[in-house]
Amino acid sequence: MADLKILVTGAAGYIGGSVVATLISEKTHFPKNKVFAAARTEEQVQALQPLGINVLHLNLQDEQEVAEAIFQNEIDLVIHTASSIEAQLALHLISALGKRRASSVTTGYSKEGGWPYGTIKDGDQVYKLEKELNDGFPIRVTNTAITELAQKQGVTSFIVGVPFVYGTGTGQWKKLSQNIPAIVKASMKLKTVYKFDDNSNFITVHISDLADYYVLLVKKIMQGEKLPSGEVGYYFAVAHEAGWWAMIESLTTVLHARGLVTQPTAQIWTSDDMAAETLVLPRQYVRLMHTARVTIDYKNGFPLGWQPKWNEQKFLASMDEEVSATLQYDRGRTTLFDTLKPMN
Ligand SMILES: NC(=O)c1ccc[n+]([C@@H]2O[C@H](COP(=O)([O-])OP(=O)(O)OC[C@H]3O[C@@H](n4cnc5c(N)ncnc54)[C@H](OP(=O)(O)O)[C@@H]3O)[C@@H](O)[C@H]2O)c1
Repeated sequence: MADLKILVTGAAGYIGGSVVATLISEKTHFPKNKVFAAARTEEQVQALQPLGINVLHLNLQDEQEVAEAIFQNEIDLVIHTASSIEAQLALHLISALGKRRASSVTTGYSKEGGWPYGTIKDGDQVYKLEKELNDGFPIRVTNTAITELAQKQGVTSFIVGVPFVYGTGTGQWKKLSQNIPAIVKASMKLKTVYKFDDNSNFITVHISDLADYYVLLVKKIMQGEKLPSGEVGYYFAVAHEAGWWAMIESLTTVLHARGLVTQPTAQIWTSDDMAAETLVLPRQYVRLMHTARVTIDYKNGFPLGWQPKWNEQKFLASMDEEVSATLQYDRGRTTLFDTLKPMN
């Protein structure tokens, strides 16, 4: 099992960095000489070097560069966390590979994300539904493209559906997620916490549980366990749910106690434009990213045997840590949405 060479893309990122840290914490399963990390800039490469793993300076948009990296380093398995939006990056990897994983987002399976089929779970025919829907939603475009090219190339593919992620990452470079830090920064800027008029429950996972999920999946594959893959290889890393307004209320209390906002209660965004501008999100996705409802049926046990350590109560009690982390680790604007194209 220790013979496989694993490449993590987006290794300077929040999720990829934490996956790398979790992998190398299990030395017997994942010796450092078998772990490869891809980062986009020289500065990120330097930051990852002290880990003692193989660090590759790689532009995933360059198909030739990706193919050379996969072949020269004899990569067997890829955990692709760099982008679920830009399908081309995953396709370059699949074209060069024998086995791979991919990461997706779960907001696309909400009513707000244009998903008309209701609740889904691991093992459902999600690929067929995504294909039938064909609505141009970026994540669905990526998922179906991955599944189809992998099938054609004889590559085994697994789509990991990632919900809202929180907690401080354990990577070397980016340690912050997207949603909560954006709310914290917006609130500090306006001296007021804002929320959407629409309350519901969303699905979520702590970054440490998510990293464990990827590593567990990889271990099972390496141990030769027969897992559903390709068209039925959808895995949802959902640990628990929480209320949008309950989260905002906890954040407001903490920010107010720290003197970072002047109002003790949250106000309603006066328009989606105001929210998009302040949260620095594309207008088309801002409501989706901050109001999407639960649509994954995760409550009947976790098929992989995953045991998340975080729950709703711990999550809501962790808002002070979220604020501290945002103040300490912010690296400015995210590049995640730069490649988003308008939907059909
Ligand atoms: N965080 C969440 O709550 C969440 C939830 C659901 C799904 N997701 C999805 O999971 C993926 C990773 O999220 P994240 O929060 O870890 O984002 P992140 O911190 O921005 O990490 C992504 C990493 O991939 C790198 N990257 C992007 N395009 C690249 C390219 N063409 N070549 C080389 N490297 C490239 C980025 O480089 P730079 O550092 O140079 O930008 C960054 O280091 C995203 O697709 C996101 O949509 C995230």
